[in-house]
Amino acid sequence: MTKPMRIVVLGLQGSGKTTLVKRLIKGNPHSVYDPLHEYGSQYNVGSFNIETFLTNVRISGPRIVVFEEASRYLGKHSPSRAALTYLDEHRHMDQHVMIVCRRPTQVHPDVIELANYLIVFNLPGANDKALLEAMACGLGDIVRELPEHEFVVVDEHRKVHLSPLPARVDPIRGAIHGKS
Ligand SMILES: Nc1ncnc2c1ncn2[C@@H]1O[C@H](COP(=O)(O)OP(=O)(O)OP(=O)(O)O)[C@@H](O)[C@H]1O
Ligand SMILES: [Mg+2]
Repeated sequence: MTKPMRIVVLGLQGSGKTTLVKRLIKGNPHSVYDPLHEYGSQYNVGSFNIETFLTNVRISGPRIVVFEEASRYLGKHSPSRAALTYLDEHRHMDQHVMIVCRRPTQVHPDVIELANYLIVFNLPGANDKALLEAMACGLGDIVRELPEHEFVVVDEHRKVHLSPLPARVDPIRGAIHGKS
């Protein structure tokens, strides 16, 4: 059993975040808090409020919990207390967490700072650039230049990996599926 990870996926609208997350969670039991119903009927769509969703997650115990559109309930100024508490506790429940939002400046600082991995698609904003530069030197410039649908992975040591990553060294796939 691999250690529970917190993975944050960032990128502007239409960059490919949801497409990538769907690929990464395939084959593992998962629940998705999905306010925009992007995941289809086979998923646990977010027709509940976040508190009810988290109660269900604690009971049903999926291996991966995805939080889509996180800026709506993990926003910089008014994050859900229940969601922040869950993010502090999920590792004790052996659950990986994937948090999806467009811009790092939109979410509570803990969401970004405590991430084990960041997956970042093109992000041209100056404020986002400054925040990313603080995480890994050069990251802000790298993500400004990324072509459509391409991304970088920032690992636990804040080393930046360019996509596509060979499956055998893909740190995210290894973390989630227990391969390395
Ligand atoms: N690697 C890819 N190659 C080609 N097309 C892609 C790729 N990834 C995503 N797309 C296409 O881009 C469009 C947007 O993808 P997706 O819904 O995953 O973006 P998103 O980042 O989740 O957007 P939003 O912020 O609006 O939720 C979709 O039509 C999808 O099929
Ligand atoms: Mg999406």
